[in-house]
Amino acid sequence: MCGIIGYIGNKDVSEVLFHGLYSLEYRGYDSAGMAISDGAHLKTLKCVGRVSNLEDNYKNNEKFNGFFGIAHTRWATNGGASFENAHPHTVGKVTLVHNGIIENADSIKSSLINCGYHFYSETDSEVIAAFLDNELKHNNIFKSIQVLRKSLKGSYALGIIIDGDDCIYAIRKDSPLLVGVNQDEFFLASDISAFLRYTNKYFLLEETELVVLGKDDFKVYKDDIVVSKEFLTSNSESHSLDKLDYDHYMLKEIMEEPIVLKNLIDSYRSGENIDLYDLSRYDEIHIVACGSAMYAGLIGQSLIEEEAYIKVNVFPASEYRYKKKIFNSKSLVILVSQSGETADTIAAMREVKNMNIPTLGIINNPNSTMARECDKVILINAGIEVAVATTKAYINQVCVFALMAYTTSLSKGISNDVSLDDFDSIPVLLQNILDNSHVYKEVAKDLFEHDSCFFIGRGIDYAICMEGSLKLKEVSYIHSEAYQAGELKHGTISLIDDGIPVIAVISNSFLKDKTLANLNETLARGAYGIVVTTSELDDLKDFRKVLVPTVNRFCQSLLIVPTLQLISYYVSLYRGCDIDKPKNLAKSVTVE
Ligand code: M6R
Repeated sequence: MCGIIGYIGNKDVSEVLFHGLYSLEYRGYDSAGMAISDGAHLKTLKCVGRVSNLEDNYKNNEKFNGFFGIAHTRWATNGGASFENAHPHTVGKVTLVHNGIIENADSIKSSLINCGYHFYSETDSEVIAAFLDNELKHNNIFKSIQVLRKSLKGSYALGIIIDGDDCIYAIRKDSPLLVGVNQDEFFLASDISAFLRYTNKYFLLEETELVVLGKDDFKVYKDDIVVSKEFLTSNSESHSLDKLDYDHYMLKEIMEEPIVLKNLIDSYRSGENIDLYDLSRYDEIHIVACGSAMYAGLIGQSLIEEEAYIKVNVFPASEYRYKKKIFNSKSLVILVSQSGETADTIAAMREVKNMNIPTLGIINNPNSTMARECDKVILINAGIEVAVATTKAYINQVCVFALMAYTTSLSKGISNDVSLDDFDSIPVLLQNILDNSHVYKEVAKDLFEHDSCFFIGRGIDYAICMEGSLKLKEVSYIHSEAYQAGELKHGTISLIDDGIPVIAVISNSFLKDKTLANLNETLARGAYGIVVTTSELDDLKDFRKVLVPTVNRFCQSLLIVPTLQLISYYVSLYRGCDIDKPKNLAKSVTVE
């Protein structure tokens, strides 16, 4: 994880770097730092904690007018969140920022210690700086960076400044780096959001390339040869990074769900990528993803199996990449990712591609590694998500699966009782649901003082519970488990005590009584029951309830999950948690 921003140009460097750091803070917020240079002098500032701490520190220090700089926001991997471990790291003539993990850092470090180097941090990044400094004693900058690249094992995106030089150098492997280009100014960043305010023209640095950003121009080298790059233009709007009048990005992003959902359904109706939604030519599908994206995949599994009669398995990418994979000639692997940069999902994608199995990505970030490398891609176009807890991107991932199940079912002649018009009404219904904030606040008041909570459901409702439970623990730090309702009594029911909240999700009429019976088993042991269900199934009494309108079976989960997202939001609010940046997390998990 970690976020990198670099800038060279005529603007106030610190201002550009701070803006970039704030935009990238979703990638980690254990410490932050920056280095600014005028070519002759370099000033470094770093601190533990948030970018705002760094900015306070900066304001209390003497101003330094350089024309280029690099900055970093950290998610701790090697070594804790300390001042010593914060980036940039300076060793001798080298100052750098690093995103990634170097696997052979220990052996490089031992040989550098033998050469007389001392290390002050626990990081692999300081080892990189020392290695490069040592190389510079024998070679020029260009050659030294090439030697460095050949010597490192693992993942890295590096922004490098050398003492007495006036350029920024950058290389990468398995961690993203983009170069933004404007008249007379250049940017380097882990993600386009860091410089979108200034330019939407950019290119992606390839793994074999070295970019040198100078005052007046830039050069990209592949081996020793200068190559020209094709510029891309981003259509993402920088204002989507504004919090508007919302207190938190999470709330803002939940409230954007009706509009992003509508845009997605409209783009499908206009025929965009429509052939990718028809899965009828496959007879076995693997859905591979992490976290919420995997739970969106669980809903996809339920819908595609139930409605389109295709066998689907869902795997966490971290397991899938190392497991034996058995395919046939009609296999498809679907990879789901908001960021398109999740390390495990990328690794799984590359492995499957090496086996010549077709890959289909369901991706939010159009500029990401996965959006480029999957054979086919459906962009969910949910817009930039800032809150670490995903909400609107998850909803659009689920909607893509609903449309896939629907299209495939039609094309296989299985069902024709649902029409696309039934999808059209969902955004408006969702808007009404979101407007009922008092309901979710009441449920949140029931939950926020508890230490533990359970979600139970069967079939697709269990998939919904998985997401509801992850959201709650992620933003409120309440221990929460999602269980297949019938499984609870096989051991876990021993944890049910007086007053413990059990949230039952019931949207399936066929399984309603079964889940209800399981809920009653917990009530008999003192649990406090909350039911999330649809208006059609609501003949339940004596429960705290959350009701959503009954809609077609493809879309029901699109109305239920947002209620759970809002409950989690308010629980987190009442507990005083850091809603948009929960502890220990980062939005984009770019390490294994
Ligand atoms: O960017 P991705 O969709 O690949 O990220 C996958 C997970 O890391 C992500 O969904 C994570 O579980 C979220 N924090 C959940 O809100």
